[in-house]
Amino acid sequence: MRFRRVLALASVTLVGALLSVAAIAQTAAPAKPARVAQAQAAAPAAAVAPTAAPLKPGDATAGQAKAAVCGACHGLDGNSSDPQYPKLAGQQAGYIVRQLELFKSGQRPNPIMLGMATPLSPQDMADVAAYFAKQKTLPGIADKTLVSAGGKLYREGDKTAGIPACMACHGPDGRGNPGALYPHLAGQHAQYVQQVLTAWHSGQPWGKGPHAQIMLTIAGRLSTADIAAVASYIQGLHTAVPAAAPASAVAAAQ
Ligand code: HEC
Ligand code: HEC
Repeated sequence: MRFRRVLALASVTLVGALLSVAAIAQTAAPAKPARVAQAQAAAPAAAVAPTAAPLKPGDATAGQAKAAVCGACHGLDGNSSDPQYPKLAGQQAGYIVRQLELFKSGQRPNPIMLGMATPLSPQDMADVAAYFAKQKTLPGIADKTLVSAGGKLYREGDKTAGIPACMACHGPDGRGNPGALYPHLAGQHAQYVQQVLTAWHSGQPWGKGPHAQIMLTIAGRLSTADIAAVASYIQGLHTAVPAAAPASAVAAAQ
């Protein structure tokens, strides 16, 4: 009986906590009746499609206004200047929406992006994604000393280590494959790529299901040196070069 009372108390506290979370989230959104907020708080947080992006067509013009808040870190046109924040310019809309859903549900754990994604509705997500997808990625520069090792891994993989060629999925020019939700990588900051690959290497997936296992398996086989080299190569990759010149990162090196 005492146990029951404790349980009841615990659930009251839990509901209280959920409500205060809802209250925080609500301050960023137009005011809604308390009952709606309660219903939302009570709904399970797992309303996330595991693989495909459930996209209504996004509106890039509406998205530009909604993306103003994102600009502080990601750059107003999606080309962040601080390399710890990923570039969003030129990223596929479906991939951006999927990441926002993963952040919102906590399946891709990041406290900053949890806060940024929580107030976004599915339509907001589609709109900001449409805006960033339309922007041009500003190319970066690869490190001369890493580019040949990085390029080899990117284009050929490493058979003995069981590492597939990155370009098999991400494309020879790093454009990715929107249908399969393989992201655009070309020009991404090496520091961010390194951060992501290192986290995967230590075994933290973004969500559940087979899609989330792909990079976890691949990154698990990359050494620290591999990660540094391929990240630098990716930073120097340009999507604008002809496919006949896959050594584009070399050209980008100083
Ligand atoms: C205070 C800084 C900050 C703001 C503001 C911010 N972000 Fe982020 N964003 C981050 C960080 C940090 C990461 C990397 C998270 C990680 O390492 O997993 C990130 C990652 C992302 C990613 C994943 C990109 C990828 O290549 O996987 C998307 C998409 C994204 N943010 C969208 C947005 C949108 C849309 C907004 C505005 C509504 C926004 N962000 C506002 C800091 C910010
Ligand atoms: C079999 C297909 C496949 C291959 C091969 C592959 N990737 Fe990926 N990559 C993916 C998928 C799928 C994702 C999205 C992961 C997710 O959503 O959990 C991804 C995401 C990434 C990201 C995150 C990008 C971002 O901005 O969020 C990086 C970095 C990356 N891959 C690098 C690499 C590198 C480096 C290699 C080669 C060593 C490689 N990938 C090989 C399928 C692949």
